[in-house]
Parts: sequence; C-alpha cells; structure tokens
Amino acid sequence: MSDKGFTLWFTGLSGAGKTTISGLLSSELTARGSKLEILDGDIVRENLSKGLGFSKEDRDTNIRRIAFVADLLSRNGTPVITAAISPYKAIRDEAREMMGDRFIEVYIEASVDACAARDVKGLYAKAFSGEIKEFTGVSDPYEAPENPEVVIHTESEEPAESAAKLITYLEERELIPAAVAS
Ligand code: ADX
Repeated sequence: MSDKGFTLWFTGLSGAGKTTISGLLSSELTARGSKLEILDGDIVRENLSKGLGFSKEDRDTNIRRIAFVADLLSRNGTPVITAAISPYKAIRDEAREMMGDRFIEVYIEASVDACAARDVKGLYAKAFSGEIKEFTGVSDPYEAPENPEVVIHTESEEPAESAAKLITYLEERELIPAAVAS
C-alpha cells in the first residue's frame, strides 16, 4: 500500500495534551512502518517561526506557516500531525481549504480549569497573575472548532485511549493499514 498523506490538525489549549497524544501516535505509526512528521507549536516557534510573539497577527502567521508545510508534506504522501493551539477558526478553515480531504481537524478538548490545574509549564499561574499577557483561554481568545472530524476529551480519557481512538479513525478512513494481528 502506498503512503497516503493526511494532516491531523490538532487544536486546543496549552496543556490540553496535544504534544503527549502526538508522541503516542508517532510511536504507533512508526511501529506500523508509516512515515510521519510532527509540526509542534513549541518547536516551530524555535525555528520556522522564531521571533514571532502571541499577537493575533503573529499567531496567524505562525499557523499559516505550519499549514503551508503540512500541505507540502501531506500532498507528497507524508502523514503530518500539527500540534499548535491554532486558536482562530478562520485560519484553521484556510488550512482546511488548502488541504481539502487531507485535512482532519482534531479538537483536543480540556477546560481552562483542567489545563491550569495541570500547569505543566507553570504558564497558567503567570497568566492569572498577569505576568504573561494575552494567554490563550485566560486573557486571549480560543475559538473551539464547530465541526471537528474527531474530538478527544483529555479530562476523561487516558492518553493511550485517545491515541487508539485516532488510530481507529485513520484505519476506518483507510489512511493507514490495519494492524497486523500478532
Ligand atoms: S499559536 O497560538 O500560535 O497556535 P503555539 O501552539 O504556536 O500557539 O504556541 C503555544 C505555546 O507557547 C504554549 O503551549 C505555551 O508553551 C507558549 N506560550 C507562551 N506565551 C503564550 C501565550 N500568550 N498564549 C499561549 N501560549 C503561549
């Protein structure tokens, strides 16, 4: 079976679980012999988007760059996961328009309260105290997707369960081969 390109476009708050789930999926897809590239917001911001901040304009630029690269890769048969907050619906819709049925929107859903309770990077505490301004979900908008292809509830699902749900979705769409029974 030839590789089929697609983009799993993760969107959700900081700390919702985008990076964790992309890591688990990556291991599973690699084990099945599939190619995969991950465009993670934190990493893209260290190179391709270095120097960009968190104004609406800079976020839009960041997301358009990620969409551009995801389109190039996926149209050449490389599966992609993008894991950036991508807070604005209009820019996500631009990415959908660009990639057509290769674009799979995945809402990694967790409340601000849950993300703040996890506060893995300590950023929510700083956002609530005002030390960090324009923080998504606290002092900056997050526009949840209206019709995502998949919703992952990270407050009630284990990460492995969420990853398995996405694998099943990809198998059903015949975008990845079914696992070989052991
Ligand atoms: S996006 O809005 O442009 O999609 P992106 O996913 O690349 O954001 O980067 C988000 C990451 O940057 C967060 O996980 C967090 O670690 C960090 N960050 C720093 N400042 C902010 C902020 N003001 N709002 C959101 N995330 C921030």
